[in-house]
Amino acid sequence: MSERVLVTGHLGCIGAWVAKLLLADGDHVVGFDLGTHDHRLRLIMGPDELSAIEQIRGDITNTEAVQNAAAGVDRIIHLAALQVPFCAADPAGGARVNVVGTVNVFEAARHQHIDRITWASSVAVHGTADLYDTEILPVDAQRDPGTFYGVYKQANEGTARVYDTDHGIASVGILPHTIYGPGRDQGLTSQPTTAVLAAALGRPYRVDYASKMGFQYAPDVARSFIAASRVEAPGARICPLGGDIVTVQTFLDAVNQAVGEELGTCADDRLPFPAGTDDGALRDLLDGQVPHTPLADAIGETIAVFRQAAAEGQTLPDLPG
Ligand SMILES: NC(=O)c1ccc[n+]([C@@H]2O[C@H](COP(=O)([O-])OP(=O)(O)OC[C@H]3O[C@@H](n4cnc5c(N)ncnc54)[C@H](O)[C@@H]3O)[C@@H](O)[C@H]2O)c1
Repeated sequence: MSERVLVTGHLGCIGAWVAKLLLADGDHVVGFDLGTHDHRLRLIMGPDELSAIEQIRGDITNTEAVQNAAAGVDRIIHLAALQVPFCAADPAGGARVNVVGTVNVFEAARHQHIDRITWASSVAVHGTADLYDTEILPVDAQRDPGTFYGVYKQANEGTARVYDTDHGIASVGILPHTIYGPGRDQGLTSQPTTAVLAAALGRPYRVDYASKMGFQYAPDVARSFIAASRVEAPGARICPLGGDIVTVQTFLDAVNQAVGEELGTCADDRLPFPAGTDDGALRDLLDGQVPHTPLADAIGETIAVFRQAAAEGQTLPDLPG
């Protein structure tokens, strides 16, 4: 049965994929975003899909605007947020968007009698890798965020918990690590995708870090959000994503192999984050059906999307040099 789904942040990377895949399932998408550029939507969908989205330009920090957008929807997938560099540059603005904005979404659910929310936490709720005795963190690993962004995401986890206990609103907080693929063009860990874009256009690109990271393909992530939003599960759950937990060099090897040239390289530096997170909670929630496209296939698909967009003269992110 077709449902009406509110997707906040639908102009972002995951939001665009969630919107596309919900439409493919026959759902009605209400997109809510403050942004003015729909380049990520245009990158991955045609004009018919684009015009099928009911788009609302609104600010997630505006309680009334979020409540109005949530009127009559069956479920909410909440993705609007400011990423690490933006929260670092403007901590108060970051708190308004990431903390107050998330409270607004839960409050809208309460007022509109929507009993479930799926939202995005982040690996940034954890501390630096040296705090843990394992490379792949369990779902309940210690929270010790070292960035404003991570602090705000931890606040979101608490917000979800209290809305469950006080108001019976169930939620699933999906916890991504490093999302890659078409549409990933901002945030600290977007460089591997920039390397794919560069390679697709025949240009060299050097990633600033060599870390082992949980690479998660944007369409797979979107499918996980959608599948989780359809499960009738009580409580405030946190479900980390797994993906391909490999080094940046392994990722770049797959990119270079796909284009037949050594265009992608990386520096030796390490990001301080844990390498990956265990996705057992998500597997349990989805009865083992966690979407996963093999890395080489996902990189091949991403290259094809970028090349087609370039051939059509679409606006693509700027490359250095
Ligand atoms: N990309 C990753 O690797 C990653 C990793 C961990 C967690 N996450 C989380 O997943 C979610 C989606 O990430 P993404 O990669 O799609 O992010 P993105 O930055 O591509 O998109 C975020 C969207 O939120 C919108 N937005 C920002 N401020 C807003 C406001 N005040 N009102 C309404 N909309 C606003 C932006 O315009 C943008 O379209 C976010 O919550 C993010 O923190 C992402």
